[in-house]
Amino acid sequence: MLPAEFEDPLLLVPGPSQLAPPARRHVGRHVGHRSEMFRRVFRETTELLKRVFDTSGDVHILTASGTGAVDAAILNFIKPSDKVLALVFGTFGRRFAEQASRACSKVYRLVVPLGTTPSPAQVRTFVESEGLKEIDVAIMVFNETNPGVTLRELPDIVRYVHDLGGIAVVDNVSGLGGDYFSCDKWDIDVAISSSQKCLASPPGLSFITVRTPEAERRLSSNTCVSTYFDLKLTKKFLEKNETPFTPAVNLLFALRDSLDFIVNNVGLDRWIRWHRDRARLILDVLEKLKLRPFVENSDVRSVTVLSFLYPESVSPAEFRSLVYRLYNIEIADGMDDLRGRIFRIGNMGWVTRRDILALVAALASAVRVLTGDRLGSLDEALELVAKANLLV
Ligand SMILES: Cc1ncc(COP(=O)(O)O)c(C=O)c1O
Repeated sequence: MLPAEFEDPLLLVPGPSQLAPPARRHVGRHVGHRSEMFRRVFRETTELLKRVFDTSGDVHILTASGTGAVDAAILNFIKPSDKVLALVFGTFGRRFAEQASRACSKVYRLVVPLGTTPSPAQVRTFVESEGLKEIDVAIMVFNETNPGVTLRELPDIVRYVHDLGGIAVVDNVSGLGGDYFSCDKWDIDVAISSSQKCLASPPGLSFITVRTPEAERRLSSNTCVSTYFDLKLTKKFLEKNETPFTPAVNLLFALRDSLDFIVNNVGLDRWIRWHRDRARLILDVLEKLKLRPFVENSDVRSVTVLSFLYPESVSPAEFRSLVYRLYNIEIADGMDDLRGRIFRIGNMGWVTRRDILALVAALASAVRVLTGDRLGSLDEALELVAKANLLV
């Protein structure tokens, strides 16, 4: 038997995700980052990212994971004297607020229960109850990866933030490319994402798009205390299709190929539809297995992170461990308060019908091994997988 590290697992965690086939071939290349070829690939990549963000603004590419881009947004758009409104409905919104509170002391957190998202009315009531007449920056996650919910009313919330005189900085690390999102149509000032989720590229790159005059004004008037994350510096280099410091060249090539595949080969709309169709299928199939989604309101359930309650009478750790040891399939536990309460399936990037078939069979098999029970109707679940109308 081959050592496990030579056999890639079926990776169904909420990132990193499985790579799109064209993104797999660049690790061995050596290309200088001040070369003509690099500049061409960099330009193509930023143009493709603009399409995916649907933004008329600049897209800055950073060599850092998503957390680095969140830090960069905070360092460039938040001043110590600012009033920041933070919407918290999961782990990454909470972390965003914690990161922001390193930069300024006035972070007003609206926290709503796990499995829900704040409505525009709740945001308004909160702002009024805090006696806020205006704010400087609002920070929020669009697709909250733990527990797996999406802020569907984001456009209304962004409008309200603008009424309060602030800019909206939106983390869409785990949703970009997997669910509809438009910076231009929703008038988002600053948005953040990264390479290793629905864009089916290797981890290591993240992005910030800056598109409104107000965001540009804040950027140019702010002194960034970081050199590496100074977006004024990256903007200068962006104009010549370069980065100020050595970027992860090979990852950029992989990203360009993956984006080119998504946008020009598959088509962005079809790529997003593929994510939606898979989410529907996984939910339907797991329902046949009597596994219950954690998020009760289907309107706010994430398309790209599907969370389920663990089957009764199995140990959560043993369940995931068995799925991994027997079938080499990685799914994720919940985080923070949801650890041991939910498991999460990453429906991101390159996930095929064969992968879903393997997942379903593995989950059913693990429960059978651990409890001797049968989970719902595997036959019916397999029939749904066979009949689903999927891209691949
Ligand atoms: C919504 C969200 N924001 C930020 C991050 C942090 O990204 P990274 O792990 O790439 O630093 C994640 C990671 O899962 C995420 O899901």
